[in-house]
Amino acid sequence: MQKIDDTDLMDPAVQECPYGYYARLRAEAPVYRMPQTGFHLVTGFDVAREAIRQPDLFLSGVSPMALADDGIPQEIIDIYQSGGWLPLASCSTSDPPRHTRIRRFLEGLFTAERVRRATPLIDSVAQELIDGFGGRTEVEFVRDFAHPMPMYIIADLIGVPRSDINRFKAWSDAIVEPFSMMVTRERRIECARLVVEMQQYFAEMIAERRREPRDDMLTEAIQYRDTDGSAFDMQELITILTIDLLASGNETTTAAISSGMKLLLEDPAPIEEVRRNPKLLENLAEEILRLESPAQGMFRRCAASAQLGGVALSEGDLLSIRFGAANRDPGQFPAPDRIDLHRRKPGNHLAFGVGRHVCVGAALARQELVSAFKALLARLDDFRLPPGAPEPRYLPSFFGRNLDQLPLAFRHRSP
Ligand code: HEM
Repeated sequence: MQKIDDTDLMDPAVQECPYGYYARLRAEAPVYRMPQTGFHLVTGFDVAREAIRQPDLFLSGVSPMALADDGIPQEIIDIYQSGGWLPLASCSTSDPPRHTRIRRFLEGLFTAERVRRATPLIDSVAQELIDGFGGRTEVEFVRDFAHPMPMYIIADLIGVPRSDINRFKAWSDAIVEPFSMMVTRERRIECARLVVEMQQYFAEMIAERRREPRDDMLTEAIQYRDTDGSAFDMQELITILTIDLLASGNETTTAAISSGMKLLLEDPAPIEEVRRNPKLLENLAEEILRLESPAQGMFRRCAASAQLGGVALSEGDLLSIRFGAANRDPGQFPAPDRIDLHRRKPGNHLAFGVGRHVCVGAALARQELVSAFKALLARLDDFRLPPGAPEPRYLPSFFGRNLDQLPLAFRHRSP
C-alpha cells in the first residue's frame, strides 16, 4: 500500500479531490506532519475541535501569504506603500487585542436580527439572477449565479452602487488568490496592483461617506467607536472592507452555492424531498457546507509546546486545521460522504469554525444558501451537465474549494 508520505496536499491533483487522502489521514494519523511543508494537518473531528477551542494555545496570527517560500516580496510591499495601504492582518488571522477590536465591530453587523431584516433583499437578489437567465435553458452557473449573488448582497449592505460591481470580480479574485498558496510570484505582484486599485476605490467612497453619511455598513464602520472611544483609521477601514467583508465572505459563499449545485447534479434525490418539505432547505444548506466546506483549512500556530491527538508539538509549529476533513469524519457523521437531510444535529459541523474565531458572517451565509436553493428549486428543474460540457473542476488551493466553472442545463418550471 502507498505510504501516506507519498501524497502531498500541495499537489493540485490531490487538492481537487482530497477526500480519499483525508480518510486515510483520519484513520492513520489525525494529526500528521506533512514532510513537504512541515505543517501538521489536523483531520479528525475531535482533534480539530479540541485545537480550535484553545485559541490562546493555538493562535490564529498566521498569514498564509507570508508562508510562501519568498515570504512577502519587497516589490509587493512597495506596491502597497506607494499607491495604497499595506493590508493589516484580517480578523480571522489575528489574535487579541487586535482581534477583539475588529470582531466587536463585525459581530454587530450580522446578528440574527439584522440577517432577518436583510432576508427580503437576499431573496430578491436570488430571484433577479434567475430572471436574468431569461428564456435560456443553459448557463454557466458560477458566473451567472453563484458569484454575483453574495457579491450583490454584500455590496448593497456595504453601500457600493450596483453599477460599479462589474469591477469587483477581478479585484475580489486578486484578494483571495494569494491565500490559495498556489500562485506564482508574478501573479502575486499583479494581484497586489489590483488590490491597490480596489483600496483607492474604497478610499474615495470613505471620503464621500464622511461628507454625506448614509444608512449602510460603510458609514457604520466610519462612525464606529471602540470601547476606548477610538475610531478605525484608514488602514483598518480598508482592511475591514476589502478583506473581512469582501474576501472572507464572497468566495466562500460562492463556493458553497456552486458546490451545492454540483452535489445536487450528482445526487438529485434531495431535490424532491426539499420541495415536499421546504423546512429541509436549512438542512440541505448545512449538508452542503459539511460536504464541500468552502474553507477547507485554516492555520494555527502553537504558542507553547503542546500535545494534540497524542502528537507532541513545539512552540512555533504550524497546524492546518482541515475543516473539510473533520466534516466527513465517520465518527461524527454516519455515512459521511452523502447528503442526509435528517441528521440529528445538522449544523454541528465545523464549516464555520467554533469558539473565538467562529465565522461572523455565518447567519448571513446560511440565509444566502437557503434563499438561493429555495429560488432555484422553485423555478428550475431537471438540472444536468450540458452534453459535451467540460467536467467542472475545483481550482487548486490549499485553503478554498472553488469551482472554476459549472456549465448547467435545466428546464424552467411552470409557475
Ligand atoms: C459559506 C460561507 C462561509 C464560510 C464557509 C465561512 C467560513 C469561515 C470560517 C471557517 C471561519 C473561521 C476561521 C477560523 O476558525 O480560523 C470564518 C471566519 C470569518 N468569516 Fe466566514 N465564512 C463564510 C461566509 C462569511 C461571510 C458572508 C462573511 C462576512 C460578510 C464572513 C466573514 C468572516 C470573518 C470576518 C471571519 C473572522 C472571524 C474571527 O476570526 O473572529 N464569512 N469564516
